[in-house]
Amino acid sequence: MDDLRDKYLSAIAEAADESALETLRVQALGKKGEISLKMRELGKMDPEERKQMGPRLNALKDEINAALAAKKQALADAALDERLRAEWLDVTLPARVRRRGTIHPVSQVTEEVTAIFADMGFAVAEGPQVESDWHNFDALNIPGHHPARAEMDTFYMHRESGDARPPHVLRTHTSPVQIRSMELRGAPLRVICPGRVYRADYDQTHTPMFHQVEGLAIDRDISMANLKWCLEEFVKAFFEVDDVELRFRASHFPFTEPSAEVDIRCSWEGGTLKVGEGDDWLEILGSGMVHPRVLEAGEINPERWQGFAFGVGIDRIAMLKYGIPDLRAFFESDLRWLRHYGFAALDVPTLHGGLSG
Ligand code: DAH
Repeated sequence: MDDLRDKYLSAIAEAADESALETLRVQALGKKGEISLKMRELGKMDPEERKQMGPRLNALKDEINAALAAKKQALADAALDERLRAEWLDVTLPARVRRRGTIHPVSQVTEEVTAIFADMGFAVAEGPQVESDWHNFDALNIPGHHPARAEMDTFYMHRESGDARPPHVLRTHTSPVQIRSMELRGAPLRVICPGRVYRADYDQTHTPMFHQVEGLAIDRDISMANLKWCLEEFVKAFFEVDDVELRFRASHFPFTEPSAEVDIRCSWEGGTLKVGEGDDWLEILGSGMVHPRVLEAGEINPERWQGFAFGVGIDRIAMLKYGIPDLRAFFESDLRWLRHYGFAALDVPTLHGGLSG
């Protein structure tokens, strides 16, 4: 019996895995196991012998069962330890530095423009992208029959059949925020309004959604001279050049009178744009003195107040400043493009710290 005990206890101690343990269990305690056979022999023994052997065999059986169970637990613990070692992860390691997100050129340029005008005392104002027909057109002196409505390739919102009211539109420009700012804040007023605008148009320089920033300054004696100075300061700061020549070209917008489109002197020598030198002119924005009817629509008395307004395409000046050839790529979310043209997240544009880092 001692031999049996030594044999199984040492085999159990050495078993490498659960299936080896099971084989040992069958060998010792299975139906035809060595110990089971011995127990069967008890029946043939005389009572005296049986009284001695019975308890010893039972004790041996218990001992081996206990050894099997203990070894099984030890194997499971070892397997778990091994897994924990293999799957260990150092959560204190620094995050990967490559492949970080970047700031989109549209966001960057919006921040740059905002920083420049904030420095001149303009506050940021916003309005809804789904705009009332009235704010987008009528209030800006664009009545129902006006050709500007057709020219703008407007997206109209769905309207229940039988509803006689004009449908809302996806705003075709940021100019309606002029009206909303006047309604909300009154005069005097100095705001810029950056945001998304929509027109049904698509080619290398047009996308159905794009971005504008609107400027509006209203006071007692604001003139074209103030407009010219502001825009010159803006263009110099934005393109980061010391001197720049602007050309005010007479134009027409329903919401301004007089109206001017503004060009900047530039050169395209060698295929790259240089602002402030050369013999070319580049149109960058529309502007003018706010039309009295527009002031009235914004509940501001045109007898007492006057102002200037302008509208710039953010995507357009981003393309010019950063040499980006195709507008459509702005909105394709191509990671390679974003990494190439994007900006570092922490380089927030400021006038004192540098606009474009
Ligand atoms: N709203 C015009 C457009 O989208 C741009 C514009 C022109 C805005 C002249 C103005 C302005 O405020 O005075 O084409």
